[in-house]
Amino acid sequence: MVIVRNPPWPGPQAERQSPGPRVKLGSLIPTMAPGHPYVRIADLTVVYRSGAGHEVEAVQSVTMDLPRGRFVALAGPSGSGKSSMLYVLAGLLRPTRGTVSVDNNDLTSMSADQLARYRCANVGFIFQSFQLLPHLSAWENVALPMIPLGVTASQRRTRACKQLSSIGLGARITHKPGELSAGEQQRVAIARAVINSPTLVLADEPTGNLDAANAALVADEMERLVRDLGATVVCATHDERVASRAQVVARMDHGRLVEQS
Ligand SMILES: Nc1ncnc2c1ncn2[C@@H]1O[C@H](COP(=O)(O)OP(=O)(O)OP(=O)(O)O)[C@@H](O)[C@H]1O
Ligand SMILES: [Mg+2]
Repeated sequence: MVIVRNPPWPGPQAERQSPGPRVKLGSLIPTMAPGHPYVRIADLTVVYRSGAGHEVEAVQSVTMDLPRGRFVALAGPSGSGKSSMLYVLAGLLRPTRGTVSVDNNDLTSMSADQLARYRCANVGFIFQSFQLLPHLSAWENVALPMIPLGVTASQRRTRACKQLSSIGLGARITHKPGELSAGEQQRVAIARAVINSPTLVLADEPTGNLDAANAALVADEMERLVRDLGATVVCATHDERVASRAQVVARMDHGRLVEQS
């Protein structure tokens, strides 16, 4: 049994690492025929081992396929394994057992370097705890993922401000995270995750701190990514207002997939 990370994510510093040039893994490995599932998860198991030697089986033998270009809600009570599933799909956590492939790329057999390139080229991750850099302004946080892509400084600022405006934060672009409400920080994290038009958006409770109007804005943004960019959005949520707008709902309980519709 191999446990890779505890805690399971590398934090904002690792998020900032330059993963090198933008390379679509699909260009390295041929993509399967249309209709082939975009995400294939087989017998996925994640076991955490705490310092005291206790083991928690956070994800238990989950097998599931997800289609390309859909808005998928990952629902389930607290502690049911939703975040752990998202970390695995992001290549931030290696599973204890099982396989995960995204667009026919087997994440479980990739090196750390390949996983970093996969994330940079394909994934936008909205962390449950935001993971914004406190010394940078809202627009600078949103602009960060464009740096490894070689986007000019003025273009970075223009695009970041436009993205923030579209999510209702046009008047907060120069504020630092500590000067923003929790809901505003959450929206900055969302803007940062989608700024490079990722093909796979992994959203961890993206409406957890938002009122109804702003939760609806976030759901609108998820739908736009799917409709206009063909992205696949997997959104862990307790929020039935968000789940009801998803095209696929996968429900987890105690680490197991109990329903998919
Ligand atoms: N780093 C860790 N070390 C040990 N146990 C962990 C660790 N991270 C999560 N767990 C345990 O794994 C289980 C699943 O956690 P996970 O965060 O995936 O659940 P979740 O469905 O996202 O919950 P929530 O809705 O509260 O965010 C929980 O019982 C949790 O206590
Ligand atoms: Mg969680």
